[in-house]
Parts: sequence; C-alpha cells; structure tokens
Amino acid sequence: MGKNNQNIVKPLAICTTKLYKYPPHIVKVDKMAVLAIDFGTSNSSVATLVDGEVRRIHIEANSETLPTSVFFDFDDNIMLFGTMANQSLLNGAHGRYMRSLKSVLGTSLMAEKRMIIGKKYDFYDIISSFLTQLKHRAEQSQGVIFDSVMSGRPVNFHSDDEAKNQRAEQDLRECYLRAGFKTINFMFEPEAAAFACAKNTDRKSLGLIVDIGGGTSDYCLFESGNNDTGKINILASHGVRLGGTNFDKILNLEYFMPFLGMHGQLQKIMSEGIVAAPQSIFHDLATWEKISFCYTPELKNTVRELERQAFEPLLFKRLANLIEHRNGHELAFLAEKTKISANELGEEVAKIDLGLIETGLYVGVTGDDLQRIMADACTTLKTSVLATLSQAGCQPNQVDEVIYVGGSSQMRLVQNQMRQLFPQAKFKLSSVFTAVVDGLALGS
Ligand SMILES: Nc1ncnc2c1ncn2[C@@H]1O[C@H](COP(=O)(O)OP(=O)(O)OP(=O)(O)O)[C@@H](O)[C@H]1O
Ligand SMILES: [Mg+2]
Repeated sequence: MGKNNQNIVKPLAICTTKLYKYPPHIVKVDKMAVLAIDFGTSNSSVATLVDGEVRRIHIEANSETLPTSVFFDFDDNIMLFGTMANQSLLNGAHGRYMRSLKSVLGTSLMAEKRMIIGKKYDFYDIISSFLTQLKHRAEQSQGVIFDSVMSGRPVNFHSDDEAKNQRAEQDLRECYLRAGFKTINFMFEPEAAAFACAKNTDRKSLGLIVDIGGGTSDYCLFESGNNDTGKINILASHGVRLGGTNFDKILNLEYFMPFLGMHGQLQKIMSEGIVAAPQSIFHDLATWEKISFCYTPELKNTVRELERQAFEPLLFKRLANLIEHRNGHELAFLAEKTKISANELGEEVAKIDLGLIETGLYVGVTGDDLQRIMADACTTLKTSVLATLSQAGCQPNQVDEVIYVGGSSQMRLVQNQMRQLFPQAKFKLSSVFTAVVDGLALGS
C-alpha cells in the first residue's frame, strides 16, 4: 500500500515539537493565530479565523475532517493517523489500531503504559501525537505556527462525575501542552455550534442545539435575533456520555456477541451446576476504546478455559478465533455500518454477513429493531434534553428551532424523540461534522 508522507510520523518523533521540519521560507509565527480544534471521539477537524471569516483547513486530502484514529504499523515502525490508520486496519496490516481516544480522557487508562513496537506508550503520548499531527498539518497548510488553541470539549465528558470531568479536561490540556501549544482555551462544543448556526432574525427566538456525536450528546439552549450586536445569549448547556459509539456497542452486544458465547452457559468446575459466561469480555470487545486490550495472552487463556467448560464450545471457539485474528475492531466497524444502514429502514430486513465470525453466518436487522434496542438510550436523551430546558426554566413549547449537529443526530430514533418533545418547533440539520469547529474558530 502506498503511504502518503503527510500521514506518517516516526514513533520516535512523537510528542516532540522540536523535531518538526518546517519549510522556513513559508512559516511565520503569528502570535494572534489561533487554531480551532474539534477533537472528536470519531472525527476531528480544524479551522482558523482569517479576516473575520472561518477558514476550515483540509486536514486530509480533500477533506475537512479526519477520523480520530491511530495505527501503529509494526512492519514499518511508524504511526499512522486518520484515514490511513483506518485503511491499514481494514487492509489487515500488522499493527495496533486505536479509535475513540477521547473516551479515555479522565479515566485511569490514561496513564497505563503499554509496550508497542518495543516502546512504552500511554494515552497521553498517543493523544498528544494525534494533536501534534493536527497542529503540524494545519501549520503546513497555512504557513503559520499556531501557539494557541481553542478546543471544543463536551459539557460532560463523564455523566454525573464532576471529579472525572475535571480530570478529563486536565488530561486534554496536558495533551495539548505536549503537542506544543502554549495557550489553551476550551469552549463547550454545543455552545460553539450555537455561535456557528445562529441567525440574527427580526424577532427573538429560542434555539436548541442537539449535538449527538460519537461519544457524547450535548445541548445548548440559546436566544438569538432582534439584536444589534448579532450576539446570541446562551441560556443553558448540558450533556451526557452517550453517543454513536454507544449505539454501536448496543447493536454489537445484541446481534453479534451472542454468536461468540455472550449468553453461553458453562459447567461449574468445582461443583455441580451451571453458570453464565462472564460478560465483561463481550462488553470490552464491543467498546471501541477497549478492544485493543482484548488481545492479551491472559484473555486468550480465559477464552480457551471457557471453551472447555461450555455446553456449546463452538461459540467460544469462534470467540478464540476472533481474538486470535484481532478482528474486534472490524466487528465494531461492522456494527457501525449496520447501524447506519438499518437507520434508513423500517420493517425491511438488512441481511448482515457475519463472515468475520464464521463463513456463511448471517443475521437480520431491521430499522424497527434498532428503535427497540435503543429505547433506553432514547430515554436518556429525552431526560437530558429536558434537564437542559429546566436549567433555563423553559418549557418545550417555547423552543422555536431545534438544530441537529453531530453524525448521530442523523439517527431516526434521535429525530423521532425530538419531534415528540418539540411538536411545534422547526428542525434544521446543520453541517453536522463541522458546525462545532466553525463556532470554535468564531469564538477564538
Ligand atoms: N448517516 C449516519 N447515520 C447515523 N449515524 C451516523 C451517520 N454518519 C455518522 N454517524 C455516526 O456519527 C458518529 C460520529 O459523529 P461525529 O463525527 O459528529 O462525532 P464526534 O464529533 O467525533 O464525537 P463527539 O462530539 O461525541 O466527541 C459516529 O458514531 C457515526 O457512526
Ligand atoms: Mg462532536
């Protein structure tokens, strides 16, 4: 596979801005230049303000966004980012793939060191390498060194845990520092989207940003219009740790994991009787940021033991095989693809090829199934939207417009829920993948 130099960084050079090779003739240090970064769970984007106008920066060839993913290529001893990382995984290259890096912020996993290509890395190293890439590519593209960043952050990285939330922002700040930024500011992602989407109309109106991304759902209630300054008035912001990666996980657990033994029964070892298979393996294997930790010798031994005890050993044999071939991420990608295609369906059945688990194995998923298995998630969305309104002392019938942001706002179950909550409101789909970075640049 051909490798574009822009996508490659030698692991030895990561996290060290000193090793950059800027073409000196085109680069100037502009103390005023601020780079806006939407570091997303699934996709990231960057922009800057030029003469008062937002300029989105093409962060990959012909694209204003790049997947937030990293691949350590063991054969070439290099680290790849974005689409190149995804392609390497899907092409079966020999290495370690990681996605959903943002979900690790604020957790104890951040500081755990892992050996990768003979060196120890923790998530500070990996996330700051990714951010270094964004900075480097933006600088190459604009001919400016960006010392300052205006970064988005979810209102809540973690639901109902303020200590973890604060820790997550500190972790992200640390990663930006390591990536070479000297001034680091944060803005709530849905507030940034509100700045980007609000229109100054003749009369005052209430808008609600519904930003459902890969990792979190974020809301911002704002007032706009009939205002000489053109500014908006933020009335409330709120969010929960629930997004498209959770939808992928729910689907994966419901439709794929049972073929790998999730509901399997085991013969007790020391006594008579039957016991259910442990669930944590399946949950980890269906959680994007944990998949790469499922390929340990210990887990392989556990699965072999489960196979010995199982009433249906075939299920665990498949599991052992999937782990042996390190196909957990491919299965998660299949869950994501299935979610997006079933989202377009009603009663019709999408026939999903589970060849990754066993050749000739298929499962049927309908759009209606999707609504059913995501019912609890929908209730969480509803509760958090109502909490946003109640922060501002507002009723649903006062909201004039609901603006969708984030890839997962395209889910029918999200839009059905919002239509139920706001039967009188107008609905608008923003530029779902770039509204946040536009607003960050405007607010920088
Ligand atoms: N057409 C679609 N229908 C449903 N879901 C989609 C569609 N396209 C993308 N998604 C989902 O959108 C999510 C990514 O959205 P987005 O890029 O806005 O998230 P993010 O900004 O990276 O995450 P976050 O803001 O939560 O950190 C993924 O879970 C993806 O599966
Ligand atoms: Mg987002």
